[in-house]
Amino acid sequence: KTLCASGFHAPERGKIEILDEVLIDIGADGTIAAMHRPSDPNYRTIREAREESGELVTLPVGSYLLPGFVDLHVHAPQYPQLGSALDVPLEVWLQKYTFPLEARYRDLAFAKRSYGLLVDDMLANGTTTALYFATVHQDATRSLADICLEKGQRALIGKVAMDNADECPDYYRDATPDDAIEGTRALIDYINTHPENGEKRVLPVITPRFVPSCTDATLEGLGALARECGCHVQTHCSESDWAHGYVLSRYGVTDTEALDRFGLLGRRTVLAHANFLTDHDMDKVREREAAVAHCPLSNVYFANAVFPLKAALDKGVHVGLGTDISGGPSASMLENCRGAILMSRALESGVDPNRDADARASYGPAQIDFRDAFYIATAGGGVALDLPIGQFTPGYLFDAIVIDTKAPKGSVRLFDEFDSGEQILQKIINTASKPNIATAWVGGTNLRLP
Ligand code: GUN
Ligand code: FE
Repeated sequence: KTLCASGFHAPERGKIEILDEVLIDIGADGTIAAMHRPSDPNYRTIREAREESGELVTLPVGSYLLPGFVDLHVHAPQYPQLGSALDVPLEVWLQKYTFPLEARYRDLAFAKRSYGLLVDDMLANGTTTALYFATVHQDATRSLADICLEKGQRALIGKVAMDNADECPDYYRDATPDDAIEGTRALIDYINTHPENGEKRVLPVITPRFVPSCTDATLEGLGALARECGCHVQTHCSESDWAHGYVLSRYGVTDTEALDRFGLLGRRTVLAHANFLTDHDMDKVREREAAVAHCPLSNVYFANAVFPLKAALDKGVHVGLGTDISGGPSASMLENCRGAILMSRALESGVDPNRDADARASYGPAQIDFRDAFYIATAGGGVALDLPIGQFTPGYLFDAIVIDTKAPKGSVRLFDEFDSGEQILQKIINTASKPNIATAWVGGTNLRLP
């Protein structure tokens, strides 16, 4: 198969490549076998040959190919409360709304219905890869893996580990460290031996919810498991002033330092939020080549701080973008791109009450634009996950979406007289919506979007 497409990708931070009628050869294994640009000497010949053999699919004028979005932080079970329960601080929100909702996933029929609706919505929003927190439950979490495989979304899925009786209610937690650790191992085995998962489209993730919700025995056991299996690890890190303060008072060190001591900070670790990282923490995250999932909309409601995205990117920290459903009230990565840009502008103006003038001076200007937002929503997420996704480069998996700027119910308006080049991407990032997302591929397979 060969696709002839115009579009955009950001193979590295700060670099947008404009694709203009590029031919993309997609191999049988779902990776990009080759790319041919009009400037290549043999472009015409190849194009004619592909046309003759009937292998060429050409995108219509006004349609633009982008890498599929990589959502680096999603709580799958929280989808039923998306857009609600936003009125209280994190520690109250967990007990009042979120734990009672997540506890309902002991009912497998409810889990399947909710997860089916979520994955459909994610795909319709152009999210071809998601890093999911599920719940503590084995059966419901397995059903999320089944549903992603059935619907074709690339997914990384963790059974949530949470066994600390001081912070987690009796009706919703792992009863013992053994339940947390062996339950995690059982989910890893289920995903790795799933008969439909030959191409490893779904991967298992070690998922201590956050330090407060876990006992030392669980954190130690999960660190050992991470070393043993080499899987991804995800957790929340220094999210709010309460969460950050909790870890400081329990261990006398920051979340980053504590996670590192438990062996949970490695190349395949994704730290959600990371709003209160110290300079030293930031250096450690970079040194370990771990990643941050930036969740700009959720942070407005629950963080009491603004993540210094530009400073992290400038330092070379791996950063991707996350919706944090349902802490963030949108399943749309485009809306989160806008959130990232808006919050960076607010930080530039000095609105963060938790950072004094000296601290602001230490990370310098904060403003980012659509280029960085697009990067963290695509290639940055791929780098964070250590997976060959998020950009159009030979050898990478063909995970892509089409933005139809002429979709009648869409929200992008292009004017031929004014709009060309990068400005088209800028308008897509700033104004596109679900009706503009025409189709998606994951691993070279075209998905029928809901
Ligand atoms: N910290 C611990 N659990 C959660 C959660 O579900 N959402 C967010 N945003 N933060 C958390
Ligand atoms: Fe979260």
